Amino acid sequence: MMHAFRQLLSFAALVTSVSAATADQWRGRSIYQIITDRYALPDGADLNACNPKDQTWCGGTWTTIRENLDYIQGAGFTAIWISPVSQNYEGPRTAYGDAYHGYWIADVTKLNDRFGTADDLKALSDELHRRGMYLMVDVVVNNVMATSTTPDLSTFLFQDESKFHPFCPIDWNNDTSVIDCWLGDTTVTLPDVNTQDPDVVSAYQSWITDLVKEYNIDGLRIDAAKHVNLDFWPKFCGSAGVFCIGEVFDDDIGQASQYQGPDALDSILNYPIYDALVSAFAMPGTQNISALTDKVAQSQKMFKDPTLLGNFLEDQDVPRWANLSVDPQSLYNAMVYNWMSDGIPILYYGQEQGFHGNSDPYNREPLWPSGYANTTAYQLTSKLNRFRNFLVNGTSNWASTQMEILTQSDYGLGFRKGDVVTILTNIGSPPKNVTINVYTPWAASTSTTEIISCEKYAVGSNGTIFMDYNKGGRPAVFMPDLLLNSSGVCGFEGPNQYVEPPVVAQVASGAASVLGRGAVMGALLGLAIGVWGVVGW
Ligand SMILES: *[C@@H]1O[C@H](CO)[C@@H](O)[C@H](O)[C@H]1NC(C)=O
Ligand SMILES: *[C@@H]1O[C@H](CO)[C@@H](O)[C@H](O)[C@H]1NC(C)=O
Ligand SMILES: *[C@@H]1O[C@H](CO)[C@@H](O)[C@H](O)[C@H]1NC(C)=O
Ligand SMILES: *[C@@H]1O[C@H](CO)[C@@H](O)[C@H](O)[C@H]1NC(C)=O
Ligand SMILES: *[C@@H]1O[C@H](CO)[C@@H](O)[C@H](O)[C@H]1NC(C)=O
Ligand SMILES: *[C@@H]1O[C@H](CO)[C@@H](O)[C@H](O)[C@H]1NC(C)=O
Ligand SMILES: *[C@@H]1O[C@H](CO)[C@@H](O)[C@H](O)[C@H]1NC(C)=O
Ligand SMILES: *[C@@H]1O[C@H](CO)[C@@H](O)[C@H](O)[C@H]1NC(C)=O
Repeated sequence: MMHAFRQLLSFAALVTSVSAATADQWRGRSIYQIITDRYALPDGADLNACNPKDQTWCGGTWTTIRENLDYIQGAGFTAIWISPVSQNYEGPRTAYGDAYHGYWIADVTKLNDRFGTADDLKALSDELHRRGMYLMVDVVVNNVMATSTTPDLSTFLFQDESKFHPFCPIDWNNDTSVIDCWLGDTTVTLPDVNTQDPDVVSAYQSWITDLVKEYNIDGLRIDAAKHVNLDFWPKFCGSAGVFCIGEVFDDDIGQASQYQGPDALDSILNYPIYDALVSAFAMPGTQNISALTDKVAQSQKMFKDPTLLGNFLEDQDVPRWANLSVDPQSLYNAMVYNWMSDGIPILYYGQEQGFHGNSDPYNREPLWPSGYANTTAYQLTSKLNRFRNFLVNGTSNWASTQMEILTQSDYGLGFRKGDVVTILTNIGSPPKNVTINVYTPWAASTSTTEIISCEKYAVGSNGTIFMDYNKGGRPAVFMPDLLLNSSGVCGFEGPNQYVEPPVVAQVASGAASVLGRGAVMGALLGLAIGVWGVVGW
């Protein structure tokens, strides 16, 4: 009783304080990415009425996210990222459907009333803060949306032609063109806002200052950051006063790393490592572990701070992992990489439910047909989050300590980050008579626990841990028992032990089996990993 009362008091304190979270505070968070329209329905809505192929609204709102946060917090996440909140195009349906995704901006300064009211958005923000979680909002400043190359400017915030770059299609080999020309095509154009214009710069700055303050936003995800002049960002993010993570859709570290730092953004989404994870773990695939270890080495050399990058396996622009890779152990190993290596883990809603659509629009499935089930991937996510939250809060500097590769072979790799040693493999589910030997920093006979299986391992002579795969290619994460005291995992007590709230039950009749892992495993399709066009929605 007393405990609950104290919690109420601290919750009240949290609600009234402005969090304005910094990069350093975000480093220890983990983020659940939501397409607002697709996360949850209001009570009584038809649970079978949403087909991603239709590219139209399915009915999710800020309120339905707020009402279903237990599922996200139950998986241990400490932040959510939601779709852009700004007013979108409301004209006739286009050849690419409707603006259900929120990226087709009309006027950034107005809210998108499809997703709710100002009070609804504030209530979501308050509820997240009451739970000790952060709110990240997606923002689009590079462009607005239109249906011709000579749009009527009257629905936009900027209504003067001089506030836009003149239409030109992007020449991807020309850096100026990438910044000044228009994303989209001539059917759905994304008129490029002139972010070099001083009036535009100051209008955007005062808008973002107000938005962050009004809705108590803790961080921004910045759409198409690569398509805006770099010197725009420090001023814009300075006005926001919160952590900024940009979309820089580029897997070249030389290019991508320019977008992080005092003259750019706090962080970017980690497309270089995403591509490397596909190369290393996807089945079928190149199974190239060196592709990953090379990228790690380059990242540590070239990024200002690789421990702030946003690690992901899926998002609204790339195929679901299960569309690229049919073996669930490939998913689990790649997931563990994102939680135990350098960077902030981000999970795109539905990955934990084995969704397997490919590119836009098939990778924006509604979540509700899954029944928000307690799947193996959901449980793994919960375990990884709980363990990482302990490392962040219960040990010093874990998140900012850079990883170190300890070993690599054709079948996998071992690496260390602080006092945690992780061993990953790409052999997949069937047992295989191979081992990975890792020389840990620990003395012989040290008693350790592998925190995913909760099995005990004693460190061998010369500090070795031998990982065998007689039970298949599972991921493994080791920590000495002495340091696990108070972690709350694998039976170790913990003062901060997190009690999982019940999973929300909102099951669509008969739909859950469609999404089962069996279907994913069964569909052994040889998939070519194509080049995904950079689209603005
Ligand atoms: C690069 O693109 C810009 C903007 O469209 C254009 O003005 C310039 O001529 C292009 N440069 C080259 C070398 O094509
Ligand atoms: C694996 O990746 C490395 C590093 O990117 C590259 O040099 C090598 O050619 C790749 N090997 C194969 C077989 O693709
Ligand atoms: C990939 O996605 C496409 C479109 O959603 C689907 O037709 C195909 O079956 C998927 N492949 C796998 C392996 O799930
Ligand atoms: C760490 O502790 C702080 C203060 O108690 C809390 O606000 C935060 O949510 C915790 N972070 C994680 C990742 O658990
Ligand atoms: C596994 O491989 C080792 C070394 O290659 C070999 O000695 C052993 O007999 C193999 N075990 C099985 C069960 O195949
Ligand atoms: C002992 O460990 C080191 C790495 O820490 C390794 O280089 C060396 O080969 C190992 N020695 C033996 C005998 O295994
Ligand atoms: C774990 O921590 C508790 C409380 O600090 C202590 O009493 C106990 O001896 C510790 N156990 C181990 C195995 O270190
Ligand atoms: C999910 O299942 C696991 C394993 O049975 C269980 O420990 C956990 O409490 C369940 N979580 C929820 C939220 O039901």
